[in-house]
Amino acid sequence: MNAVTKLLTGTRDWVDARFPLTKMWNEHLARYYAPKNFNIWYFFGSLLLVVLVIQLLTGIWLTMSYKPDAQQAFGSVEYIMRDVQWGWLIRYMHSTGASAFFICVYLHMFRGMMYGSYRAPRELLWLLGMAIYFALMAEAFFGYLLPWGQMSYWGAQVIISLFGAIPFIGDTLALWIRGDYVVSDVTLNRFFSLHVVALPLVLVALVFVHIIALHEVGSNNPDGVEIKKHKGPDGIPIDGIPFHPYYTVKDLVGVGVFLLLFAAVVFFMPELGGYFIEQNNFIPADPLTTPQHIAPVWYFTPFYAILRAVPDKLSGVILMGLAVFMFVLLPWLDRSPVKSIRYKGAWSRAAMVAFAVSFLGLGYLGLEPVTPTYTLMARVLTVVYFGFFLLMPVYTRMDRTRPVPDRVT
Ligand code: HEM
Repeated sequence: MNAVTKLLTGTRDWVDARFPLTKMWNEHLARYYAPKNFNIWYFFGSLLLVVLVIQLLTGIWLTMSYKPDAQQAFGSVEYIMRDVQWGWLIRYMHSTGASAFFICVYLHMFRGMMYGSYRAPRELLWLLGMAIYFALMAEAFFGYLLPWGQMSYWGAQVIISLFGAIPFIGDTLALWIRGDYVVSDVTLNRFFSLHVVALPLVLVALVFVHIIALHEVGSNNPDGVEIKKHKGPDGIPIDGIPFHPYYTVKDLVGVGVFLLLFAAVVFFMPELGGYFIEQNNFIPADPLTTPQHIAPVWYFTPFYAILRAVPDKLSGVILMGLAVFMFVLLPWLDRSPVKSIRYKGAWSRAAMVAFAVSFLGLGYLGLEPVTPTYTLMARVLTVVYFGFFLLMPVYTRMDRTRPVPDRVT
């Protein structure tokens, strides 16, 4: 053993005697056995971790030059873009990261829906995921006010005023959230503190618990069969492979491809035609001039379209809330004897396609100005969207499923 190896193993043993470092490395990486049949849909968990780190790091550096003050906020962002060294890069990475977060989260959730990853014993893992999703929505909403552009201001104004639709307590609640009668400096300050301190802490804690829960029950896979049912004499699942090095290396390929696409957006089209940064947000917030067309960022528009599809404000707010909440119920709505879409029948497959179409369609409609045709389309798609969830106990039971293999394919 040479001197360097001796020093390293000595240090490791010293730490191991005081902290379960090697034990944790083995439990969560080197001897965590993951199904050998993961496909590209399984990249998004690790990509979400990458995006989380990007957002935390760029967020810390943005905070160094940003001013949470209604008089200075817009100007400080321009200062970051023009005068702070590499400020433009840090800011565009953060704004692109916000959209990348939702792209990855939606694909990650859709994967879970396709392969029945929310079914027993992974219900809690799914619920923790939903808690992350709610925290992420709040984080994005609070962060969007900070540049103090027209869309920041009026977007927040519209969303907070929705609380006003709640009977009896609505107006008081909206006032309490804003801290003022209109969105103002007070609102900006509290949103800053929530965006920069409170929600990142919540997110990081939830992600940690999410992964602990995942490793307790083990990963599902595209076949939806439990690899723990078939163990070798050594107690290791026959269809499992150690996460490290097999999936650490595979995930690095995913990270490489992701970073190429991410860099392409950051360097060549950071606004992405107004989808990632809206045109109106290049105009400083003006409480006296309402923009003609107010729409949230793309990742909220499926739910926004549902809100607008309902003529009554309170009913619209309730339906919008329910639309987000429906995912929480999935573990109990799905009554199919099989987990993965691969072995489900025609009804479930058609329902999944209809759901995807309704979600994307609503997302598109939420970005567009209201017209009678679009309102009609939004209503139809809202019915399809809720039909997917509410009829699930029925169609998953009457479906003709295919035989599930005993082992992964
Ligand atoms: C910051 C956000 C999130 C991070 C960092 C994260 C991280 C991860 C990681 C690393 C994995 C294992 C790798 C993989 O299966 O892709 C995983 C699995 C999983 N996640 Fe997430 N996740 C996040 C959000 C969510 C959300 C919003 C949901 C659903 C509501 C969710 C549900 C699941 C499920 C069900 C699995 C197990 C999938 C399977 O084994 O088939 N996660 N997550």
